[in-house]
Amino acid sequence: MSDATTRPVIIAPSLLAANFTRLGAETLRVNRTGADWLHLDIMDGHFVPNISFGPAVVKALRPLSKMTFDVHLMCAKPDILLEPFAKAGADRMNIHVELGAQVGPLIWKIRSLGKQIGLAIDPPTSMSALKPHLEQVDSVLIMTVNPGFGGQEFINECLTKIQQAAAWRDELGLRYRIAVDGGIHFSTAASCAAAGADTFISGTGLFEHKNLKAAVAKMRKLAEAAAVK
Ligand code: DX5
Ligand code: ZN
Repeated sequence: MSDATTRPVIIAPSLLAANFTRLGAETLRVNRTGADWLHLDIMDGHFVPNISFGPAVVKALRPLSKMTFDVHLMCAKPDILLEPFAKAGADRMNIHVELGAQVGPLIWKIRSLGKQIGLAIDPPTSMSALKPHLEQVDSVLIMTVNPGFGGQEFINECLTKIQQAAAWRDELGLRYRIAVDGGIHFSTAASCAAAGADTFISGTGLFEHKNLKAAVAKMRKLAEAAAVK
């Protein structure tokens, strides 16, 4: 099923590209744009060579908005972080399929915490790693850059992974969302939508525009127009 009425486009600005001297004000600014989710990148300095912020920041921002908080755990040991982020106000938690044997128990734990589950996959990882978990997840998160930093260039080869995720969803009769993350600007959002993506995570591609609200609306319109019908 690729029915736009049952799976509306989601636009998720990534706070990583916001002004870190005023994360509260930036969250309120995103809230006013009509964006659906706020994407929160958590980096531990092990799984990726960068460190961002932790549950205390998410907890501080939580009262400022009713937007879905989409937490992306780029962390080697997410098991110790799931409960703190759930308590801090995460609505969804994305873990990486590269964690191998940890993935099954992590999915179970996120579900037991009552949160939505996203399963992320890095550009070099084969899609076959995702397949055993598809029935258990609410979304797949196709990384379209190597994770760790904002502002990188979209990797075109990832488009075929989006097509594969969409084909499996149809074949298996599942309803997971297909999210893309990394180098998502107006044109790459449209390409991803045409390949089957329905959820667009964008840091630089949105925050580089002075009028964030107009940028969110434009990305939504382009994605809807290009979407697989
Ligand atoms: C990258 C993060 C992304 C990041 C995207 O490791 O997972 O969510 O914020 O940034 P842009 O949109 O600037 O590529
Ligand atoms: Zn992310």
